[in-house]
Amino acid sequence: MAKQESTVRTLTVAVLVCLVCSVFVAGAAVALKPTQVENRQLDKQRSILAIAGLGEEGMSAAAIKALYAERIKARVVDLQTGAFSDAEDAASFDPLKAAKDPALSDALAGPQDIASIKRRERLSTVYMVETDGQLDTLILPVRGYGLWSTLHGFIAIKGDLNTVVGFGFYQHGETPGLGGEVDNPKWKALWAGKTLFDEQGLLAVEIIKGSVDPQSAKATHQVDGLAGATLTSKGVNNLLHFWLGESGFGPLLANLKKGEA
Ligand SMILES: Cc1cc2nc3c(=O)[nH]c(=O)nc-3n(C[C@H](O)[C@H](O)[C@H](O)COP(=O)(O)O)c2cc1C
Repeated sequence: MAKQESTVRTLTVAVLVCLVCSVFVAGAAVALKPTQVENRQLDKQRSILAIAGLGEEGMSAAAIKALYAERIKARVVDLQTGAFSDAEDAASFDPLKAAKDPALSDALAGPQDIASIKRRERLSTVYMVETDGQLDTLILPVRGYGLWSTLHGFIAIKGDLNTVVGFGFYQHGETPGLGGEVDNPKWKALWAGKTLFDEQGLLAVEIIKGSVDPQSAKATHQVDGLAGATLTSKGVNNLLHFWLGESGFGPLLANLKKGEA
């Protein structure tokens, strides 16, 4: 009898402990959600500033927010027409969420989906640095599949809409030391000054296998591939071509070149 009582008690205590723990875990998840959202937002702002060549390493959260608010102007773009849109608030619109919603995105068919993203949002957000109303830098969000993961990043282009200011990723799951070398400052530095389009206006930027021959006429468009990570390099090349091409920000770039966005 005494034994049965102790089994029931043991189970009761175990269930109670589980209940109390689950309440703590659920409570912590709910309570920490706003902090997580804010940190993600801050990280994105830090990344946009860094790729645009603004700010410095180790800036405080307050300094990042202040510099971002002062220098970066976010605009929503209709990707199909390449026109700026007021249909959504640029500060709160989430293109990645839109890309998952069939009402706000389009499925991409095989050969069109060179970045392997499956769906493309109809509206996206771009970021601009302006001086006296003139475009200094345009920062475009890019994403696409590497070897193991979808890489998310930004490319910053000068006001000439051709010269790269910076390129980098804020999120990916490629292997450290191999595909993860996309984060290597030395590789990232190779991008500054490269030009995206050739004299005919065709997209010419590319990541090649091996090292760029500085004597080559194409050198201005080419960047060294990552050693031992050809598959990630190919993925990065593909995602750049997708987002800078007709299905990505091509229409916006064409409009901006004509002064008509
Ligand atoms: C555990 C492991 C992780 C790897 N991670 C990557 C990676 O993140 N990106 C990549 O392109 N290749 C990665 N590779 C190597 C690829 O399988 C492939 O060999 C490589 O991309 C070929 O590049 P290379 O022609 O420059 O040698 C990995 C291989 C192994 C065994």
